[in-house]
Amino acid sequence: MDTLTDGTITLARWRPDDLHVLVRTVTGSLDHLGGWLLWATGGYGRAKGAEFLRTQENGAQDYAIRDSCGTVVGGCGLMDRPPGREIGYWLAREHTGRGYATRAAALLIAESWRQGAEFVDIKHDDRNITSGAIPRRLGFARHGEVRAAEPVAPSCSGRTCVWRLTRPGLGVEGPGCVLKSSVRVRYLWKKNAE
Ligand SMILES: CC(C)(COP(=O)(O)OP(=O)(O)OC[C@H]1O[C@@H](n2cnc3c(N)ncnc32)[C@H](O)[C@@H]1OP(=O)(O)O)[C@@H](O)C(=O)NCCC(=O)NCCS
Repeated sequence: MDTLTDGTITLARWRPDDLHVLVRTVTGSLDHLGGWLLWATGGYGRAKGAEFLRTQENGAQDYAIRDSCGTVVGGCGLMDRPPGREIGYWLAREHTGRGYATRAAALLIAESWRQGAEFVDIKHDDRNITSGAIPRRLGFARHGEVRAAEPVAPSCSGRTCVWRLTRPGLGVEGPGCVLKSSVRVRYLWKKNAE
């Protein structure tokens, strides 16, 4: 789906005319993003932004996260990992601490189930505590730890934590809190399917 909402935030697929807002939002938080995300390390400008937006024409599923005023507060994406999906996210520094990334991840989980995915993974560097709090909050189970295969951003250790949420009804699920989370995700899924 091109637009997903929970009534507080809206995820809207990036479009070519978002170039200016994308570049402004990323460059405004470059020190905050660049430590963790290689694509934001060493600067971000129109060329990088345009290259990213072009990937959307080839089937990439990346979304701008907008708050209730329509302001772009960050971005998130859904990557194909057959038979599952993987979620990524980032926020401009001034919009952290309000639950927007957790909400965005919940919407992308619901979208993954709608697309027929069997699981959703979230991966983060083991030093990235705020990123790891998101799958934990949403009831994901720890699925393992791998060494990053590619170069990593400067704040990262290179040890990647993998979290997994299995589609409700498929059997293997995580710890106790997954039940509550699945109910919420199912609710969002149903709401967006309407
Ligand atoms: C990772 C990142 C997106 C996390 O941002 P965040 O603001 O901590 O995450 P959320 O938007 O979900 O907000 C969670 C915070 O809001 C609070 N919150 C308020 N309302 C909330 C709600 N309705 N739901 C969930 N959390 C809520 C939570 O308690 C939490 O606060 P705390 O950190 O004091 O415990 C952000 O730090 C970032 O952009 N980092 C740089 C890029 C990056 O590392 N990306 C991930 C790469 S793997």
